[in-house]
Amino acid sequence: MDFFVDTANVDEIRELNQLGVVDGVTTNPSLILKSGRDIIDVTKEICALVDGHVSAEVAATKFDTMIAEGRKLSEIAPNIAVKLPLTWDGLKACHTLSQEGKTVNVTLCFSANQALLAAKVGATYISPFIGRLDDINLDGMDLIADIRTIYDNYGYKTKVLAASIRSVNHVFDSALIGADVITAPPSVIKQLAHHPLTDKGLDQFLSDWSQTGQTIL
Ligand code: G3P
Repeated sequence: MDFFVDTANVDEIRELNQLGVVDGVTTNPSLILKSGRDIIDVTKEICALVDGHVSAEVAATKFDTMIAEGRKLSEIAPNIAVKLPLTWDGLKACHTLSQEGKTVNVTLCFSANQALLAAKVGATYISPFIGRLDDINLDGMDLIADIRTIYDNYGYKTKVLAASIRSVNHVFDSALIGADVITAPPSVIKQLAHHPLTDKGLDQFLSDWSQTGQTIL
């Protein structure tokens, strides 16, 4: 499973990149706002840091402008994935840009039927939002499972990119179901390393080690 980092904060990406766990990055208008940076500048910097796909989202809602913005964003670097919303115009733009050979991530997916259409129009990635479904008392993981089943039924190559991940359990469940990619905030990726018994066990080992009076170096 690939790990994408859901942030436009270059320092956070750089830190995780040193561990070798960053297979790509996803951004959106809210994350660009949070970064306080110009979208072109910050995206260019991220693309230079990371080998994998870096999603940059269009702001347009009409087909013609989506295409123009998508083409401009793709010129930033070869590893750009143009992020398009799952609307009728977004699907049309996905079809056109995919036919031009561009990588496309279709975002704001909340139903399996939306994901089916995105696959049919040639999306490289589909981004179902888990956390936002959980927020309205639906089960985001059910959507990931349904899309996985439908794509496997028909051999669609569109990658399931589990998004709006808020907890380590979302990562675990996505991995069990077989999502191709998760995109998560850096805080969630860091939390994957934590277990209280690891901390407790290490405390015990360090305490016992100090009583041996030994050193290794
Ligand atoms: O990748 C989409 C993601 O950023 C949305 O997450 O937590 O705002 O629902 P969230």
